[in-house]
Amino acid sequence: MKIQNICCIGAGYVGGPTMAVIAKKCPNIKVTVVDINEARIAAWNDQNVENIPVYEPGLPEVVAEARGRNLFFSNDVDKAIDEAEMIFISVNTPTKTYGEGKGQAADLKWIELCARQIARVAKGDKIVVEKSTLPVRTASTLKDILTHTGNGLSFQILSNPEFLAEGTAVDDLMKPDRVLIGGDQTEEGLEAIQALVDVYAHWVPNEKILTTNVWSSELSKLTANAFLAQRVSSINSLSELCEHTEADINEVARAIGTDSRIGPKFLKSSVGFGGSCFQKDILNLVYISRTYGLQEVADYWEQVIIMNDHQKRRFAKKIINSLYNTVSGKKIAFLGWAFKKDTNDTRESAAIYVADHLLNEQSEIEIYDPKVKKEQIYTDLDYLGSRSSEENRANLSVGTDPYKICEGAHAVAILTEWDEFKSYDWQRIYDSMLKPAHVFDGRNLLDKQALKTIGFQVHAIGTAD
Ligand code: UDX
Ligand code: UDX
Repeated sequence: MKIQNICCIGAGYVGGPTMAVIAKKCPNIKVTVVDINEARIAAWNDQNVENIPVYEPGLPEVVAEARGRNLFFSNDVDKAIDEAEMIFISVNTPTKTYGEGKGQAADLKWIELCARQIARVAKGDKIVVEKSTLPVRTASTLKDILTHTGNGLSFQILSNPEFLAEGTAVDDLMKPDRVLIGGDQTEEGLEAIQALVDVYAHWVPNEKILTTNVWSSELSKLTANAFLAQRVSSINSLSELCEHTEADINEVARAIGTDSRIGPKFLKSSVGFGGSCFQKDILNLVYISRTYGLQEVADYWEQVIIMNDHQKRRFAKKIINSLYNTVSGKKIAFLGWAFKKDTNDTRESAAIYVADHLLNEQSEIEIYDPKVKKEQIYTDLDYLGSRSSEENRANLSVGTDPYKICEGAHAVAILTEWDEFKSYDWQRIYDSMLKPAHVFDGRNLLDKQALKTIGFQVHAIGTAD
């Protein structure tokens, strides 16, 4: 089977970049990305590629090359489904906020809606590809809906989880460590797997395309994210011990990272991991394990989240304790709001929780982030429901000049590791602040010694003050 038309439902951080790269690498395949959100599609179609809704280094160039040639963004979901032989589902699967599994299970409402829409519209056989991260065995739900509500057509369900990290999405997609494709081990299933292998084979070496059964593929995605998050929680747990023992977490990370069995990546201690995936996927793993009665397995993974919540709270408490146990009426400047550098994504960003904690203590906060829009910051805080949106706006403001937001502040807190923060004129910032002037470096980004020489009181994660 040769794929000529691909449709992707969901033009978000996963669907948009992934399809843009497929279109770039496969000029003979027409790729249409659809979304129910009209504003989002309009932004993807903006004449100026710098205005596309997802900020990723290198992405505007990829979109500029392929858009209008074989890459299209549209709100006409039915038409794109009808035309495509292969349909990727890349809609969001947030943690449930209601009912059974609230706070843990993945909400599969949107996935099910997609399946029903595909079943209603399809006039020919289709391969449906799960791109969204899903609980293991979701493929059977999809298959059930498609076969029972479809027009007697044949549907193959593949799992093809995305491993891209935000901020490096284009590189990760162009040179993936591996591509994982799971499908039924039947003749039709293997044919469908091969059709998707052929798409990736346009640019990914064969030995990097792994095929498995569908359940292994679904579970591997959750497992990969759980392992990565676990590393961050592990190093963060030891960062607290370092602060009490005069060991330095950066030195410890370097020392253990040179062991080739451990490896150097993902050992950077921080104010806590964020992003749309880690917490959601682990909660999901915990929920599934409990569903099968595997209490110890569930507790084991839940601890990764408990540690991460502790790290965020601990950072906020450190600010309060260092400012003589009260931040009421004191201005604290935040540098960074995104959950990591080089993205405008703020989902589950540690900054949100640190700000919330400080606002509960009646602190005043001013924020600067190079890529996050003001309205997004207010939306993030309002979503927590800790106080009215008027109160959030009264006590927290968002600036466009990093030097200005630091003026008259008692403390500067680094929440995201944006490179530009390193090259600021820190003497100028120091001069404009109240004294003693504190820096709380939640990313171990800045040169601690240089800041101390200027006169700052420096508090970094995982080193004694
Ligand atoms: C999401 C999930 O967070 C992630 O777990 C999964 O692996 C892939 O999908 P992301 O692309 O970052 O990742 O989500 P988001 O940026 O929210 O994009 C999802 C898009 O789907 C939104 O633009 C939304 O409007 C769209 N959508 C949602 C539809 O088009 N139809 C629907 O029925 C629901
Ligand atoms: C993650 C996975 O890496 C990716 O494979 C999957 O597809 C989606 O989830 P993402 O959330 O985009 O990607 O970013 P990632 O680079 O993994 O960082 C996640 C969080 O962990 C960020 O908040 C980051 O700052 C934090 N982190 C990461 C650390 O605190 N320390 C580290 O050493 C690494």
